[in-house]
Amino acid sequence: MRHVGKSLRWNAALYDAKHDFVYSFGEDLLRLLEVQPGEQILDLGCGTGHLTQMIARRGGQVLGIDNSPDMIAKAREAYPQVPFELMDACEMPFQERFDAIFSNAVLHWILQQEACVQRMYQSLKTGGRLVLEMGGKRNIEGIISAIRQALSRKGYHEQAGVQPWYFPSIGEYASLLEQHGFEVKFAMHFERETKLSGENGIEDWILMFGQYFLQGIPQDDIPAIIHTANEILKPTHYKNGQWVAYYQRLRIVAYK
Ligand code: BEZ
Repeated sequence: MRHVGKSLRWNAALYDAKHDFVYSFGEDLLRLLEVQPGEQILDLGCGTGHLTQMIARRGGQVLGIDNSPDMIAKAREAYPQVPFELMDACEMPFQERFDAIFSNAVLHWILQQEACVQRMYQSLKTGGRLVLEMGGKRNIEGIISAIRQALSRKGYHEQAGVQPWYFPSIGEYASLLEQHGFEVKFAMHFERETKLSGENGIEDWILMFGQYFLQGIPQDDIPAIIHTANEILKPTHYKNGQWVAYYQRLRIVAYK
């Protein structure tokens, strides 16, 4: 497998228009955070800022960070009263600044997990907590396999080997956190069948999130590749006129 290095340009408008389930599900994770008024909270990978703003509304002194300029621009525009910064999680400079770090559906994009976990630990005050949800082991494995098959059929064998995400098991991620000093108090792995919006649900999903697989491929070939992936997925991911994705979620609460 080839790991990816180049960062993506996110389409923040498409994200909000068609993939709002990402932060809708995140509202449930907010309950685990149990924000206390006045707490210093970092929203790691804040995207377009919807959950950051909800943390602020609950009384948290929140800072949202994301490494996508498009997402940060959209978050600032939507919530000018909330602070947002463009920042890579593996390069966070904070020293014991936060009571809590909250992260929804982001950590699986980070392949340098050692660096990221180390920075998260360093950013928390002693006794501070990390509340996260990310893709877990076997997340969207059908979609990944279909994209790889479609790329291979077109002769793009190197692209088919791209590994854009890190989907750990409970054991793997809890161990990593413990190795860096965290005490894991809660961990859960569960399946979430996720409805995708519209007749082009899976195609839109691949265009939004599967960009690493498509980088470097001539524009003319992309529609055929996406169409093939669509056809491969139809028998299993299209039910009663509705596209679905089989997400596996990993939720963890860990303390410093
Ligand atoms: C996820 O939230 O699990 C996810 C979203 C997009 C791409 C890969 C994983």
